Amino acid sequence: MERYQRSSDANVITEQYMDSILIESRYIDSVKADTAVDFLGQTFSMPVMTPAFSHLKNYGGRDKNGLVEYSEAAKELNILNFCGMMENDMFKSIVDTGAKTVRIVKPYADNGKVRDQMQYAESVGAFGIGMDIDHIFGSEGYDVVVGEEMSYQTADMLHSYVTLTKLPFVVKGVLSVTDAAACAEIGAKAIIVSHHHGRLPYAVPPMLVLPDIKAALEGTGVKIIVDCGIATGADVFKALALGADAAAVGRSMLPALESEGTEGVKQFIRGVGNELRYIMSSTGFRTVDEIDSSVLYGV
Ligand SMILES: Cc1cc2nc3c(=O)[nH]c(=O)nc-3n(C[C@H](O)[C@H](O)[C@H](O)COP(=O)(O)O)c2cc1C
Repeated sequence: MERYQRSSDANVITEQYMDSILIESRYIDSVKADTAVDFLGQTFSMPVMTPAFSHLKNYGGRDKNGLVEYSEAAKELNILNFCGMMENDMFKSIVDTGAKTVRIVKPYADNGKVRDQMQYAESVGAFGIGMDIDHIFGSEGYDVVVGEEMSYQTADMLHSYVTLTKLPFVVKGVLSVTDAAACAEIGAKAIIVSHHHGRLPYAVPPMLVLPDIKAALEGTGVKIIVDCGIATGADVFKALALGADAAAVGRSMLPALESEGTEGVKQFIRGVGNELRYIMSSTGFRTVDEIDSSVLYGV
């Protein structure tokens, strides 16, 4: 007997939603577009960023850890780099690549560790600091990640991190207008709209909630990054059209990283940027700031 199939997997739901959004063309009067962007006071070559990854290996018997390899690629491409859970010595090797890097610290139950990692990041030259608030809970309460317990985070706690350093603070794992508004209130400079590759069953696709978040943050100056399932320039274009300032690739860059390290990631992300420029040119948007949702169908 055939069984009725459903999926609560937010990765699948997100991919299906992104692929259901279609793009019209506008060729007359259109010229080659420019993907450069200003983001938190710096100019980057494109609104494409690396993901806040952790726990990568030294692939292919190579000397460098995958985190260092993709950071080198970010440096060479002049894009904003992110990294996630790690000890301070690994973060130092990432910053030493010269990549402008945002260090996303875990919501550790040990609040002293949170503060230490944030202050250390500032002392060694991080571009920004942040926290992934979507990795607090696990199946039995507060999650335990590689032996480290996580904790709830109140708005006051987040505000205290904002005032801890002079660096811009980024909240990762925002998936509601409620949290987005709270981030603006506590003084965050950017948010990452994300469900952290499906941590929440039936999580709303980031691009579906994005227009409401964009509207709620109007006038606050809070920058919006989107991740989850971003694999192509078309995905980035759709995110920008729906209100994001930038999008981060994620697991889509892993095959290139594993097989060819820094060069592989460079090639992969350059391809994403090239497709973004192609679609911008074909839709009549000369600059990233001009992109809007009037060329999208199905939203
Ligand atoms: C191997 C791996 C490690 C990750 N580590 C972290 C982390 O330490 N902190 C964090 O905020 N997100 C972490 N993430 C989540 C990513 O930053 C990203 O939000 C997620 O993978 C969604 O994007 P994707 O669907 O494009 O992969 C990790 C993801 C992967 C695959």
